[in-house]
Amino acid sequence: AQERTLVAVKPDGVQRRLVGDIIKRFEQRGFKLVGLKMLQASESTLADHYHDLRRKPFYPSLIRYMASGPVVAMVWEGHNVVRSSRFMVGDTDSAQAKPGTVRGDFSVHISRNVVHASDSVEVAEREISLWFHSAELVNWENSD
Ligand code: CMP
Repeated sequence: AQERTLVAVKPDGVQRRLVGDIIKRFEQRGFKLVGLKMLQASESTLADHYHDLRRKPFYPSLIRYMASGPVVAMVWEGHNVVRSSRFMVGDTDSAQAKPGTVRGDFSVHISRNVVHASDSVEVAEREISLWFHSAELVNWENSD
C-alpha cells in the first residue's frame, strides 16, 4: 500500500551529524520525501508523542533527551514505507539492532537510539498530524 510514516532524527543523531546519512538511506531505497523540518520539540509535543510511555520509569529521561537539542522530523511516502522504515531503522534496543540498520550502525544503547520511526500505519497518521501541519506536507510527482 502507498502510505506515509514519520521518521525523526533525535537530538543525538543531529549532534553526531547523521542527518544526511539517514536521509540518504531513505532516498536510495526509493521513498519519497514529502515533509522535512528541524525543530526544538516542545514539552507538549513530546508528552503527546510518548503518551503511551508516560508511566515507564525511563519516561522523564526520555523527555529530557528528546528536548536536549533539535530534532529533524521527516515524512516519507511509499509502498509499505511504515514496515520498511522499521527494518531500516533497526530494533528499538540498539544492542539487538542488526548491522546495516541505522541503529545497528550508529548506536549502542536503547536510550540514545538516534532515530524514531512510526510502528504502524495508524500510529504514523497520528504522529504525522502531531509533528506537521497539513500545509507543511508537499504532494509532488516527477515531471516528464
Ligand atoms: P522509540 O522506539 O523511538 O520510542 C520510544 C523510546 O523510548 C525508544 O525509542 C527509546 O528511545 C526509549 N526507550 C524504550 N525503552 C527504553 C528503556 N528501557 N530505557 C531507556 N529508554 C527506552
